[in-house]
Amino acid sequence: TLQYITEVSQRTPLISIKLLVHLGGKSLWVDCDKGFKSSTYKPGVCNSIQCTYSNPNHCGDCILKPKLQPGCNNNSCYIWGENPLIDWFDDSADIADDVFVIGSTTGVRVTLPRFIFA
Ligand SMILES: *[C@@H]1O[C@H](CO)[C@@H](O)[C@H](O)[C@H]1NC(C)=O
Repeated sequence: TLQYITEVSQRTPLISIKLLVHLGGKSLWVDCDKGFKSSTYKPGVCNSIQCTYSNPNHCGDCILKPKLQPGCNNNSCYIWGENPLIDWFDDSADIADDVFVIGSTTGVRVTLPRFIFA
């Protein structure tokens, strides 16, 4: 498929995620509509450092979903989730941070307690 996939872990409790590497992509995002459960998830509050780093499209409330949930929070900053496989700006995605674990050299796992993603 010419796609590069790596495996990372995220959330509390940690779950394993297959991540598609897209070097030209603007953001790291996960699909929250498939269920996102984590006790360490923190939405990016408007004008926070997380939001400033992420260069968001807008700041505001959750308007595209019937209720607040990971991916759709009030007073949160949003970017457009980008999916190059379907060449389509898929959905509004809020900025958040959570625990992120990635393998560095073989056998060494690095834990980032507040890794920013959409
Ligand atoms: C979230 O924002 C929406 C739209 O502004 C508002 O209707 C709703 O009451 C807010 N929810 C909470 C829990 O503040």
